[in-house]
Amino acid sequence: MSKKNSDTEKKEPEKMVDSKLSLILRYSAEISACDNLETIVSLIADETKELLEADRCSVYLLDNGDDQLYSWVSHGLKSEIIRFPAGKGLAGFSAKTGETVNIKDAYSDERFNPEFDRRTGYRTRTVLCMPLKTLTGDIIGVFQVLNKKSGVFTPQDEDILSMLSNHAAGAVEKTMLYEEIRESFTSFINTLAETIDARDPMTAGHSSRVCSYALLMADKMNYNPTKREILKYAALLHDLGKIGVREAVLTKPGRLDPAEREHIQRHVLVTKKILERTHFQPKFREVPLVASSHHENYDGSGYPNGYSGEDIPEISRIMAVADVFDAVTYKRHYREPMPFKDVIRIFKDGSGSKFDSRCVKAFFKIEVYKILKIMTSGTEKEITENSLDIFKDITLEDFLSHLDKGSGPVVKEFSKFYPATDLKNVS
Ligand SMILES: [Fe+2]
Repeated sequence: MSKKNSDTEKKEPEKMVDSKLSLILRYSAEISACDNLETIVSLIADETKELLEADRCSVYLLDNGDDQLYSWVSHGLKSEIIRFPAGKGLAGFSAKTGETVNIKDAYSDERFNPEFDRRTGYRTRTVLCMPLKTLTGDIIGVFQVLNKKSGVFTPQDEDILSMLSNHAAGAVEKTMLYEEIRESFTSFINTLAETIDARDPMTAGHSSRVCSYALLMADKMNYNPTKREILKYAALLHDLGKIGVREAVLTKPGRLDPAEREHIQRHVLVTKKILERTHFQPKFREVPLVASSHHENYDGSGYPNGYSGEDIPEISRIMAVADVFDAVTYKRHYREPMPFKDVIRIFKDGSGSKFDSRCVKAFFKIEVYKILKIMTSGTEKEITENSLDIFKDITLEDFLSHLDKGSGPVVKEFSKFYPATDLKNVS
């Protein structure tokens, strides 16, 4: 063998390693810049397909609820989700036993399920399946790679797939853990909010409704997910300090005297104190200040600090609108729900003075049926899908012109859910 030939033979495998390495590096950069689990797994599937020089790669997740595998990412499928019993087919075998399956000819293996090929016209030849295992060894899904472009899947392919499936399992596990922590945190906060509101039957559901109205406003103001979450926690916990308000004051049927008013107004300071002692992730550090500033007014006439304008956190300014709206549209110890025209007047007159005009504007952009859904949730008047058509695309702002025009069908339908619409006084 000449020296020249030997050099060429040496360089080919090196070239292959180089190209695989650059593929891994390229995908690693893309994956680490991504925080969406579905995109991460989809990138890993693409990487697998390229590195193993295969035709398709699918990632199935195990649903322990009904012991089924369902497709999560799948080349060759558009949006169709395949589900099949865990244990069925080669992917099912791998999920059940935790074993790697490397098949040279699918049709000669009795575990192979040809159903999918029959349905789609695809022809499966070679198959490599590997379970997705968590760090603790629990199987959460399966990686399935089909049809090596030339030849069969090699032990080296198995090693590469093992590395990639570990990577995917780590990303899945981390996200699931994060989701679980987030869910338990949210459910704890929801329970806390319900407990506060339940001290007085007249305010039951108040915090959750304020939160829902405020989130709709945030959507109209194009809030990003983090700001939405800050708003959600602050709105659910805004009245937490009412835990320190005497029951006799909280449920007093008549007007409050000055001392009682001062006592009840202290709830915002208690809210702040309790929340400041609560551990929040750094991105939620504003929650105590935001939650305890919901009674500050844009013109500085609110409490506890009398802050005005931009000195009040924007989320608190949103909450101020949502809080007042829920307070006046709900029955209280000392009064019935306010006639709707008067409710609107509060915000029209208060825009730019008591309330931030941008927040009022965002509130009026909300669709009427969304407001009715929140107002009536959990009541016997709960709005049904049938009633939604008449309010289709009508925003609160549009509804005002309906109110001004007179008691047309939209106003009449609205009054079924909000009897204080006061049809007699509609001009
Ligand atoms: Fe409050």
